[in-house]
Amino acid sequence: MRKERRTLFGLTGIALALLFLFFTTNWKTSAQQQQQPQGDVPAEQRYKNIQVLKGMPQSQVIPVMQFMASSLGVNCAHCHVNNNGNWEFEKDDKPTKQTARRMIQMTFDINKGNRDIFRGANVSCFTCHRGSTEPVNIPLLPVPPESTGARPGAAAATAETLPTAAQVVDKYLQSIGGRAAAERIKTRVMKGSLIGADGKPMPFEVHLQAPDKALTIITAPQGTVTQAFVGTKGWMKNPRETRELRPNEIARFRSTMQTLDVVQVTEAAASMKVAGREKIGDREAYVVVWPVDDRHTQKLYFDMQTGLLLRAVTYTQSVLGPIPSQVDFEDYRDVEGVKLPFTVRMSSVDARSDSTRKFTEIKANVPADDTQFNPPAATAAPAAPSPSSTPPPRPR
Ligand code: HEC
Ligand code: HEC
Repeated sequence: MRKERRTLFGLTGIALALLFLFFTTNWKTSAQQQQQPQGDVPAEQRYKNIQVLKGMPQSQVIPVMQFMASSLGVNCAHCHVNNNGNWEFEKDDKPTKQTARRMIQMTFDINKGNRDIFRGANVSCFTCHRGSTEPVNIPLLPVPPESTGARPGAAAATAETLPTAAQVVDKYLQSIGGRAAAERIKTRVMKGSLIGADGKPMPFEVHLQAPDKALTIITAPQGTVTQAFVGTKGWMKNPRETRELRPNEIARFRSTMQTLDVVQVTEAAASMKVAGREKIGDREAYVVVWPVDDRHTQKLYFDMQTGLLLRAVTYTQSVLGPIPSQVDFEDYRDVEGVKLPFTVRMSSVDARSDSTRKFTEIKANVPADDTQFNPPAATAAPAAPSPSSTPPPRPR
């Protein structure tokens, strides 16, 4: 376990950093990964010093930590001891960690029995902290004249009639060129750049083959990272090693690749509702809310004019409330009669794993070399046990 944590959070080697960036995009997975991740024991059984988060699934520990860190605008080291590159997360040496423990308890207490006056919402660290360690409790002067208390971006909930979710999804399918045209795209070769949290673009290539093959090549200054999956098996190769991917790495890789799917929403689920409209940049969008299962809700933003999908946000329920992860789709262009986004941005409460894929070229249905997806001859089994967190589902 120690070794694995160092791999995840020590981030010494750039190749590892790249992989980290690549595997921590919390997003969607296929239907069979919707259940609780395997071995999802209570947090206190996996970690050493859990006092207030007892009973929480262990897979939620890291997302909840990332949620707290982003709510306060700090990183892990604000509360945790790092001894020469080794994290000692269980230690209570920092007063901030002890305060945080009381804050967690306080947040639980505030929410207890108050859901009705919170109108079903909840108070979280972010409600007060808003990205700072020092919440502001005095209004700033001068008070803006138009301050009506309305939340920015909240839908103009007038008496206007909204379309149904089925109509919105239908318009989306038409706007991308229709389901039939989309289904004719069997293979794609996509070239462009991958931009990580540091903002530096790296040459990036994706090879996709329906139904279930993907290969990516990232050319980093330190070397090339290639990874691929075929169905439920995957491998990766970087300058240091060539090995099989762990099941949760495949789940993450797959969910990242699903953000590049030709069709993002295949049909309107019965539980989808149009909640209103909101602005995304300068575009007006219909917001479709989808209670996916009891732990996940999704909000889909469709351009009112063009019908295209602009944004999808997945909320994973945690003890501290919903934890968001977001994908933005931009720069739609025509490829073989189908509109595809040439820019896909992924963001989450773990800013280090935020990434943007910007394509300059997408070719569809070019004859592909089938063997490129196969693992190289000397592919080793992964050494350390699988890290715990699995991305939330994104069923369609
Ligand atoms: C605002 C303070 C704060 C920040 C920031 C924070 N943590 Fe924590 N962390 C805590 C507290 C408090 C606990 C103990 C929770 C409990 O007692 O139930 C904890 C526990 C943990 C544990 C369990 C350790 C064990 O063995 O008991 C891990 C792992 C962990 N944090 C990782 C992280 C990571 C990774 C980050 C950065 C993404 C992070 N934390 C950021 C406050 C914080
Ligand atoms: C009801 C409002 C409220 C909520 C909710 C809340 N906090 Fe706080 N928090 C405060 C206030 C007020 C302070 C004192 C800030 C100051 O010193 O100016 C504070 C201080 C802190 C500090 C110490 C400041 C520092 O130097 O780092 C930590 C750590 C902290 N909060 C963590 C959390 C975490 C984690 C959560 C969510 C589990 C949370 N808080 C939820 C109001 C809140």
